[in-house]
Amino acid sequence: MDRLKSSARLMIVSDLDHTLVDHHDPENSSLFRFNALWEAHYRQDSLLVFSTGRSPTLYKQLRKEKPMITPDIAIMSVGTEITYGKSMVPDDGWVQFLSQKWNKDIVLKETSKFPELKRQAETEQRPHKVSFYVEKEKAQRVTEALSKVLAGRGLDVKIIYSGGIDLDVLPKGAGKGQALAYLLKKFETEGKKPTNTLVCGDSGNDAELFSIPGVYGVMVSNAQEELLQWYAENAKSNPKILHASERCASGIIQAIGHFNLGSNLSPRDVADIGKDVENLSPGLEIVNFSLLVEKWRRAEVENSEMFIAGVKATILPSGVLIHPSGADHIMKEYVNILRKVYGDKQGKQFRILVENVLATQLDSDTWLIKFDKWELSGEERQGCVVTAILSKKDSDWFTWMHVHETWLEHSGQGEWLL
Ligand code: GLC
Ligand code: MG
Repeated sequence: MDRLKSSARLMIVSDLDHTLVDHHDPENSSLFRFNALWEAHYRQDSLLVFSTGRSPTLYKQLRKEKPMITPDIAIMSVGTEITYGKSMVPDDGWVQFLSQKWNKDIVLKETSKFPELKRQAETEQRPHKVSFYVEKEKAQRVTEALSKVLAGRGLDVKIIYSGGIDLDVLPKGAGKGQALAYLLKKFETEGKKPTNTLVCGDSGNDAELFSIPGVYGVMVSNAQEELLQWYAENAKSNPKILHASERCASGIIQAIGHFNLGSNLSPRDVADIGKDVENLSPGLEIVNFSLLVEKWRRAEVENSEMFIAGVKATILPSGVLIHPSGADHIMKEYVNILRKVYGDKQGKQFRILVENVLATQLDSDTWLIKFDKWELSGEERQGCVVTAILSKKDSDWFTWMHVHETWLEHSGQGEWLL
């Protein structure tokens, strides 16, 4: 993780299902709010960590189903697999550590003697995780009996019950909490311990996250009974833990505000986009510009010459824009094209998602920005890598000087505006 040269300002460690991702929100509105907040105000100097019970296979599937931005670190299979970056480079040190006093064959043999345990899908059986389904009423009894048997066979295991249905057997040193402790220690050794850490969860396998010393924590409003019970028994007096009144990603945003961890104003919640010049950063400019175009095409802003004039004022007319097809345009053409597409996505599930926004300052008033831009239309998505030069000479706002777009791998390559 050498993207950051110094400590992360904020590290968010979030569970996915029913925490960051709301499966009861087909519009994904709270997820889109969070994404815009993160890219505008945190991506540059903070760390995003996803910590999920899902195996890499199901994690990748979720990423296809939901508009999720890319985390810096992915902790999968209930803290038994850690990978870094977009390309998901595995942490081999962690794997080695977990192999101590662990024997999957013995776990499989002993668990097969419990008829109450129904094996989960093959994708969810991992080198350091064996998973079952078990009915709520039987969970406690089975857990206790199984612990005894496995301890008797010389294994150090941890058994975790989540969502009122899932039972995971892991090495004792594994789990979401231990994986986080491992990462924090690693950062500390490098002299880059995050200034603040916020953990976010909703179910049993998240409980450990809240017991890591020093971290802030949010249980989303829709948290499961088993997590709330754990909290009531173990952490009630800890003022650094909040049970949010809002669901999923909105609960995370609420916690950022509650604990004063930084900006909690998502650009998606601002009616008058672009008027907040005081907090303007390259990241916010990128997010705001994409939101303006989204709203224009969804006809959520008024079709006015004022809007067009606003766009004109933020681009260098003679700048060059290279379309992913390779064709180049003069930037002022962009305005004419924009005029024509007003409302072309009205009533459609159209969103623009920008992610991985990275700004490098070239001199006192010029930035080189790189980011990924996705256009999502229902199930379909197309993406581009965008490289742009932004300047803030003689003004309070940014001017787009040059833009170069190339197709993202695995992306559809159909109709693409500019
Ligand atoms: C995810 C995993 C499953 C696990 C559950 C709880 O749903 O796919 O294997 O049991 O999380 O940790
Ligand atoms: Mg969850």
